[in-house]
Amino acid sequence: MDLDRALRTTGAVRQFSDEPVDDATVTAILDTARFAPSGGNRQPWKVAVVRDLALRRRLADLQQPQWDAYMAARAAGQSPFNPVDYEPVADPPHAPNPLLDHYGGPGPVVLAVAVDLRLLAVMDAELERTSVVGGASIYPFCWSILLAAHDRGLGGVLTTFLSRSEPEAGPLLGLPEHHALAATIVLGHPSTARPTRLTREPVGSFTTVDRFDGEPLTGEPAEPSA
Ligand SMILES: Cc1cc2nc3c(=O)[nH]c(=O)nc-3n(C[C@H](O)[C@H](O)[C@H](O)COP(=O)(O)O)c2cc1C
Repeated sequence: MDLDRALRTTGAVRQFSDEPVDDATVTAILDTARFAPSGGNRQPWKVAVVRDLALRRRLADLQQPQWDAYMAARAAGQSPFNPVDYEPVADPPHAPNPLLDHYGGPGPVVLAVAVDLRLLAVMDAELERTSVVGGASIYPFCWSILLAAHDRGLGGVLTTFLSRSEPEAGPLLGLPEHHALAATIVLGHPSTARPTRLTREPVGSFTTVDRFDGEPLTGEPAEPSA
């Protein structure tokens, strides 16, 4: 697939058929994704390909309360779990989540992605705000998994809800010491048509010149794509 097209069309896929994703396909996807960049090329990732349906169901159960809290906060007009001004909604109601239903069924595969904290250079760790830089050594790898899956006709979505339940999920997954659960990625054969146009803000809405409070960058893309 043309790279520009792949970057513009790899949207989240959350509905899958029962067609399984075999180990050879997972290996091929990871064999491409391993070329992702990481700080110092330390390649801090570990992947558990979770096939055990009972274990997957347990992982889904751990995520459901987080989803309920997320949806209730969204309904209240918040940006859920943000580290600045998030206020949890008391007693959030159950919110259906078709993606979690797939955890207990055939078809898609669940990849748990962990990161070895000893291999991260976390340049903002000592600042008085939430640290974000460490993620830069693991999420490009996750994104490459999604791109490589798309290239093979599969779809998927990255989620981070399991990280909130790491104390419970870690032992279930045999998470090694000094590792963090970075993401779970569900990959499968899409059961619905993939979107061809994703909804994203234009460049001028988030790009300025010289300073973040500078003038918006103007002008059309040099090679506009459809
Ligand atoms: C860090 C991160 C966490 C995400 N968590 C979830 C999630 O928990 N559940 C889910 O359905 N999608 C999740 N997504 C997918 C986003 O919802 C999706 O990328 C976004 O809505 C854009 O969707 P689109 O690419 O289909 O336009 C996550 C994506 C990222 C990058």
